[in-house]
Amino acid sequence: MSETNTVTYLKDYTQPDYWVTHVDLTFDLREGETLVSAKLQVKKNGDHHNPLVLDGEELQLLDVKLNNVALAKGENLTEGYMVDQKFLSLLPTNDTFTVNTLVRIHPEQNTALEGLFKSGGNWCTQCEAEGFRRITFFPDRSDNMATYTTKIMADQIAAPVLLSNGNLVDQGQTEDGRHYTVWEDPFPKPSYLFALVGGDLACLDDTFVTASGRHVVLCIYAAAKDLNKLEHAMASLKKSMAWDEEIYGREYDLDLFNIVAVDDFNMGAMENKSLNIFNTKYVLAHPNTATDADYEGVEGVIAHEYFHNWTGNRVTCRDWFQLCLKEGLTVFRDQEFSGDMGSQAVNRIANVRSLRMGQFPEDAGPMAHPPRPDQFITINNFYTATVYSKGAELNRMLHTLLGKEGFRKASDIYFDRFDGQAVTVEDWVHCMEDASGRDLSQFLLWYTQAGTPEVKAKWSYDHGTKSITLTLEQHIPTINNQSNGQPRHIPVKFGLVAPDGQDVVQGVLELTQAKQTFTFENVPPDSVPSLFRHFSAPVNLEAPYTDDQLRHLMIHDRDGFNQWEAGNRFLTTKLMEQIDRYERGQDILVGEDVLDSFRRILQRTDMDQELMSLALSLPAYHEIAPKREVIDPHAILAVRKAFLETLGRELHNKFLEMYNANYDPEKSYDRADAGRRSLQNTALGYLSHSGDAEVAKLAVRQYSQANNMTDRYAALNIIINMDEAQSYRDGVALHFYYQFANDALVVDKWIGAFARSETDGILQVVKSLTEHEVFKNPTPNRMRALYGSFSQGNHKGFHAEDGSGYEFVANFIMELDAKNPQVASRMIGAFEKFRQYRPDLQTKMETQLRRMASMESLSTDLSEKLQRYLGKEAFAQLRVGKSGV
Ligand code: PHE
Ligand code: ZN
Repeated sequence: MSETNTVTYLKDYTQPDYWVTHVDLTFDLREGETLVSAKLQVKKNGDHHNPLVLDGEELQLLDVKLNNVALAKGENLTEGYMVDQKFLSLLPTNDTFTVNTLVRIHPEQNTALEGLFKSGGNWCTQCEAEGFRRITFFPDRSDNMATYTTKIMADQIAAPVLLSNGNLVDQGQTEDGRHYTVWEDPFPKPSYLFALVGGDLACLDDTFVTASGRHVVLCIYAAAKDLNKLEHAMASLKKSMAWDEEIYGREYDLDLFNIVAVDDFNMGAMENKSLNIFNTKYVLAHPNTATDADYEGVEGVIAHEYFHNWTGNRVTCRDWFQLCLKEGLTVFRDQEFSGDMGSQAVNRIANVRSLRMGQFPEDAGPMAHPPRPDQFITINNFYTATVYSKGAELNRMLHTLLGKEGFRKASDIYFDRFDGQAVTVEDWVHCMEDASGRDLSQFLLWYTQAGTPEVKAKWSYDHGTKSITLTLEQHIPTINNQSNGQPRHIPVKFGLVAPDGQDVVQGVLELTQAKQTFTFENVPPDSVPSLFRHFSAPVNLEAPYTDDQLRHLMIHDRDGFNQWEAGNRFLTTKLMEQIDRYERGQDILVGEDVLDSFRRILQRTDMDQELMSLALSLPAYHEIAPKREVIDPHAILAVRKAFLETLGRELHNKFLEMYNANYDPEKSYDRADAGRRSLQNTALGYLSHSGDAEVAKLAVRQYSQANNMTDRYAALNIIINMDEAQSYRDGVALHFYYQFANDALVVDKWIGAFARSETDGILQVVKSLTEHEVFKNPTPNRMRALYGSFSQGNHKGFHAEDGSGYEFVANFIMELDAKNPQVASRMIGAFEKFRQYRPDLQTKMETQLRRMASMESLSTDLSEKLQRYLGKEAFAQLRVGKSGV
């Protein structure tokens, strides 16, 4: 192998040889080039004679000074500085000194969207994780916390707005008729939290008064045409600020908080100190263009980034292995916030579904890693469901074990003890121990070991003593041939639901051994255990429930999550049975028991609309697939389709009633009606599978009368996918496109609707979209709308028997890798579980993976994934004689 991918190990962490304590940056933003000068105040760390080594990539170095004296480039460090593709090194002579550098960079050519780049004519930055080194030479590691002063110069017309972190301390005109601003950030921060924005942006402003009376100016910036779509983001920000004060006692710490929305962004958003930069998808919202789900997404991500100000920024991570310290905690905080803003049960169901669809498979596949990994090649590949979502679950378990007050006490200790520092997961868990007096060393295994535990439950009733004995047994799966079988510390929220629907017992059981037995007395016969309420631990539960017991929990469980879970367990079992039958060549039967369970839900009048709509949803493809020993996508699709058709047909009148009861185009849009819209569109969905051709007209009527995007987009999707609506399809689709052609986020939806459509011949349609004008300079959002939706949301198209879907996506990944490796590397996730697929499909997926691995030039991002997927040896063989990027 001619390339070497360097592996970084947690065990090798050492403090740096030097600390940069303050940095003065000057940016000269110009068309075609940007000049960045930096003056670093440096202090030696410890007693040594090692050189100062600064990170720097794709920088054109123009000048270096040590203590204000010019340094020449040398052959070795005694002659001057040395520089290569990755580092600038020099040998200081004092313990404290200054280093000046001047570099030229080219933001307009930056397609990777890391460092300083241009989006929609504006300059902006993305520095997490290692983007700052593409801006200037610096110790680009999160344990180097420094204060920053940033001067930005630019043309007044091209960039009237010039922003950076902290407070605006100066602004004015330059001698050559341009303008400048100067920003000072008083809080020491790691370089990944640096941000700069320059451009022509409009803003919505507001103020927030903190609990202690500080007046904070809030500004949300976006393109002028989007100014009317910022109110929801602003309201979400203010709610987040109030919530963090109320729940965690955390106040905002500066007089200004800015958010900037940009079209081109690899991820969702970024928590840079006082200057959050967002993907427009998580800022812009207006009833005409955003769905109810989009509104929730904005609220959740605004909160997430805001909460990082304390969990991430004031207290940050020592190194990137600790990523889940800030992400897991911040996700847990944003989940709780969203629950408090809406319904805890609805939010919990949504989050658990996405954990099971995203994280559980990851934890059982070639990328499996602990929430706190101990090695990586590219940290960019570890912004994963495991770090984020499982990381959040670990905090939720701590919250369950310590209780609300205990958890708050621990977080107070944490902020107190570590403010202004870069710390580790152990530091966090020690605060939990100090707050509770408990020993959490066993709990730490959750952070350091991969894999989803299996918990087997059994119970028996003794009529003589009127007692129930519950046995819980845990099994830790083998991951990547490593057995890590030590039992975990598992909190089990539970209750025993008596025949009258009341809890006889409830509480939290702590499972810490491989097998444990719990006995409860004075329990009426036929009480049903409700286990892992609110999904109190990220495990797979195997439990011998009968259909009757599940029905009992579906109605009586006082925990909203477990009500849903009981129905989900029932439906999953029924679907799995039929998939088995189908794979054996037998007919699919949708039993009377399934219809009956739906009838019972439809009859209920006591149920929250969103919960009802969730209860009426069939488990999704990605919820079923991980449960299959071998995945035959076409079997899953066939069975789901048969269920949808039978339910639609047999319950046609009920669904029509539900549709009519909730459909009300006269009513003006109100966000609080989301539950009603959700029921209405769930009903329309089933009706569209009922075989009733009239439903096509209902969908067209809904499309034409809609006064909000939720209803309009639901109707569009049905019209695209329903056989009986094909005569309307092109007309409606064109209408939608022309109505919203100027709104990038809506065009993304339009593309997504086709890319996910499991109608015959869809690949041709999707391919033609890549030739469409909308695909000329696609943003990452647009690539995801097309290739992401197709590969992760179009199971029929992606898994086409002839392999054409795989080839289509692989071609794109290969092309994208050289331009934007981070997005390419996320896109390859659709192939991650290839070994679990039907052998013939597995072979076809592997063919594409091998083709990607044989590319002449391969990014480290993609090569790390391919190495994991294909295995080290197979990958190495394919790379013989090839180069890296
Ligand atoms: N730190 C960001 C968040 O969690 C995510 C992110 C990572 C954004 C890397 C950009 C690059 O909100
Ligand atoms: Zn985050």
